[in-house]
Amino acid sequence: MSDIAKLEQQVLTDVAAAADEAALEAVRVAALGRNGTITGLLKTLGAMTPDERRVQGPLINGLKDKVTEALTARRDALKNAALDARLNTETVDVTLPVRESPTEQGRIHPISQVIDELTAIFADMGFKVAEGPDIETDDLNFTKLNIPEGHPARQMQDSFYFNPKPDGSRPLLRTHTSPVQIRTMLAQKPPIRVITPGRVYRIDSDQTHTPMFHQVEGLVIDKGSNLGHLKWILEESMKAFFEVDQVKMRFRPSYFPFTEPSLEVDIQCRIEKNEVRFGEGNDWMEILGCGMVHPNVLRNCGLDPEEYQGFAWGMGIDRIAMLKYGMPDLRDFFAADVRWLSHYGFRPLDLPTLAGGLS
Ligand code: DAH
Repeated sequence: MSDIAKLEQQVLTDVAAAADEAALEAVRVAALGRNGTITGLLKTLGAMTPDERRVQGPLINGLKDKVTEALTARRDALKNAALDARLNTETVDVTLPVRESPTEQGRIHPISQVIDELTAIFADMGFKVAEGPDIETDDLNFTKLNIPEGHPARQMQDSFYFNPKPDGSRPLLRTHTSPVQIRTMLAQKPPIRVITPGRVYRIDSDQTHTPMFHQVEGLVIDKGSNLGHLKWILEESMKAFFEVDQVKMRFRPSYFPFTEPSLEVDIQCRIEKNEVRFGEGNDWMEILGCGMVHPNVLRNCGLDPEEYQGFAWGMGIDRIAMLKYGMPDLRDFFAADVRWLSHYGFRPLDLPTLAGGLS
């Protein structure tokens, strides 16, 4: 076998044996690099006679071409093998369920959801949301609301009082959201249309009572406001809230110190086992208290009852949340149990809107 043939066999064996691209590069350098074996052979052509060169030239150049071709083919094969190996280890199973991100796993508490729903409903009717502090003065929580000294609501066993201040006054955790009515009337001029969702506190605890719960109050003050307006607002808002085509309401005379006349409102429903359905049935469920704002309350806020009238209503947010979403025990609302929340909670990006659906 000629030297060229031997060299060819040697280099092609090395090319075939190169296990990766780095090994193959070493083979290339050894053969075709500046000091490579084939490069060395090519250099000998210059010193040959024309006759020798005519014979040797095609042989040596043929060797070079063959080796170059073999190197290219081997490099492609190694590249493909490396890609196949990566594809094997980096496979993605596109049929697996998408893992939920934290924003999708989180849940909105039913209370927050109901507040958002009420806000959407009343904003559509031109109401603003007003808020007040949880710690109130006796004056705003009771006196200005025409709740006289000695009224049972003021008693220590119902309200959470703080220690008396040096001036003798005793702040308390507000027992209802009604002081926000007073704050609103003191701070802005009529016409007023607000709802006031918020936390309230009373010393009470059983399946349907917790020491902290939530109320929402509505207040409208304007010239010529009347009970007809109140009735329409309550009917329309409760229809929207319970997402039914009709609600029948029953208005019963009642007593609240801050309204005159005062009414309690029941809505028609069907109570079956533990389920309540609105818009049908022969049962009645009390859902709120309301009335025309008492002239004394208007006066206490610097408004002339001869010029302005208004109406107000108050209801328990937790209670209407329980009725709408069928949660049996109020205490669970505040137990911070993620299993309860993932069952009864709402998806954070599904914001309640009238157009897109409340719940
Ligand atoms: N403040 C009352 C309560 O806590 C609820 C209420 C009744 C509010 C009648 C009102 C109203 O604004 O007009 O039980």
